[in-house]
Amino acid sequence: MSAVTARVRVEPIVDPDSTAARAVRALRVAPDQYRYVGDTAFNLGDTLRDPMSEAIAVIADDAIVGFYRLDFAPNAVVGRSLGMPSVGLRAFVIDHRQQGRGYGRMAMNACCDDLRARHPGREVLVLTVNCINAPAISAYLKSGFIDTGELFHGGSAGPQHVMLQFLHPHTTT
Ligand SMILES: CC(C)(COP(=O)(O)OP(=O)(O)OC[C@H]1O[C@@H](n2cnc3c(N)ncnc32)[C@H](O)[C@@H]1OP(=O)(O)O)[C@@H](O)C(=O)NCCC(=O)NCCS
Repeated sequence: MSAVTARVRVEPIVDPDSTAARAVRALRVAPDQYRYVGDTAFNLGDTLRDPMSEAIAVIADDAIVGFYRLDFAPNAVVGRSLGMPSVGLRAFVIDHRQQGRGYGRMAMNACCDDLRARHPGREVLVLTVNCINAPAISAYLKSGFIDTGELFHGGSAGPQHVMLQFLHPHTTT
């Protein structure tokens, strides 16, 4: 991994015609990664049309390097309530030219800080990740997610691990 000194932050996108939205539409993954995340331009449009979701840009210094969707629907990601206020992470991507520099891990840390600041009532961040997607699993574990051990079979690219990150660990028992 190359040494990186960039400051990584995250920022909501609300305007589909903004410069940020255009930069997100230009993000690309490697050909063999599309099965995990699909097309980011489509994911951005889908997110902006959903009143229960937020579109978030990942910014390293001043450059947009990634994107993810926050899904606030009660059954988001795993199709059922987790018994506490949750938010689902979907469509997470770091542009393939920027991968392996720690941006994914730093983006997830910034994501949790952002949720604590803007959505303090949400207690847990949940995601699924394909069992063969080693870089993503590693990035999630290194940014504090835990593997629940549960397998989710709803994806089109094979079984997925269900991972959680508690946003206010000092208040959980
Ligand atoms: C998953 C993804 C967002 C990770 O972003 P990233 O910026 O490349 O990740 P990081 O550089 O923060 O890497 C985090 C850890 O993952 C591991 N990792 C990263 N790239 C890796 C690779 N190509 N192979 C193996 N491990 C890898 C490293 O151990 C790294 O930790 P380190 O920096 O301490 O060495 C990015 O690879 C991506 O966009 N993939 C395609 C879309 C996708 O799969 N999204 C997830 C859907 S659930």
